[in-house]
Amino acid sequence: MVSLLSAIVTADHPVDDYRLVAKSRDFTGKVVLVTGSSSGIGAGIAKLFALMGANVTVTARTTDKLRSVARECKKLSPYRLKPLEVTADLTKSSDLKRVIDETVKTYGKLDVLVNNAGIRTTPTQITHSNLMADWDRLYALDLRAVLEMTHEAAPHLLKTNGTVINISAMGGIAPATFNLIYGPLKSAVNMLTRVLALQLGPMGVRVNTVNPGATQVTEKLDPPVIWEKTRSFVPMKRLGQPLDVGFRHHKNRS
Ligand SMILES: *[C@@H]1O[C@H](CO)[C@@H](O)[C@H](O)[C@H]1NC(C)=O
Ligand SMILES: *[C@@H]1O[C@H](CO)[C@@H](O)[C@H](O)[C@H]1NC(C)=O
Ligand SMILES: *[C@@H]1O[C@H](CO)[C@@H](O)[C@H](O)[C@H]1NC(C)=O
Repeated sequence: MVSLLSAIVTADHPVDDYRLVAKSRDFTGKVVLVTGSSSGIGAGIAKLFALMGANVTVTARTTDKLRSVARECKKLSPYRLKPLEVTADLTKSSDLKRVIDETVKTYGKLDVLVNNAGIRTTPTQITHSNLMADWDRLYALDLRAVLEMTHEAAPHLLKTNGTVINISAMGGIAPATFNLIYGPLKSAVNMLTRVLALQLGPMGVRVNTVNPGATQVTEKLDPPVIWEKTRSFVPMKRLGQPLDVGFRHHKNRS
């Protein structure tokens, strides 16, 4: 037992492996598609990949905000690469396919798919009159679109030994009274990710989920009391920021 343990503790990799990890922060020549990238976590992730040299596709339903994120990406890119902007509603199969098609047509391939698009409901009770309508609306984007996006992207990712990253949420791990709809859907995202990792891993495609806790995705916190309370639960006494999510997921690559 003792010798086994010491074998694990002293195990190390050749220095070239360390160099490879350092280099893994350079996305020059890589193509990254980030859904829901007109604001919040998705915008943060798109900007970080741009900064690391990737060719990026940004996509969301609203064209204006997408344009301004694309401009910021271009400013951050060491090569001044202008992201491909695709306005799309991912609950529509034709829109979703267009996002993948235009990416592959423009850049010739796809290396990283970040399934970030999602909506949150306001706190929902079991007696809520619009319960099922709210469920259907969230299900279409937070769960169904993630699976369809991955389904459509898989053939391209298999060619590049690509990566899928799902942005899920702590709400999918820990139950909270206000997460009647969001919690179960994110929980399903987590399990889908694990099953997909089993399916695609042996073929060279890694599938991972990032489960952010409370993250500040808008400048104004609404309603302020809830966010103040949330902040008090966080060990560091501050809310997460989009950059925290991008960075964490990036570290997970190694
Ligand atoms: C980005 O994409 C363009 C268009 O396909 C290509 O010419 C360029 O080499 C790519 N740049 C990088 C750094 O990947
Ligand atoms: C990510 O989560 C979705 C479910 O929302 C799942 O369909 C998808 O397959 C998961 N992982 C991968 C590979 O996409
Ligand atoms: C994908 O990985 C396999 C196995 O490591 C390797 O043989 C192949 O060249 C890789 N393909 C690409 C496009 O990197």
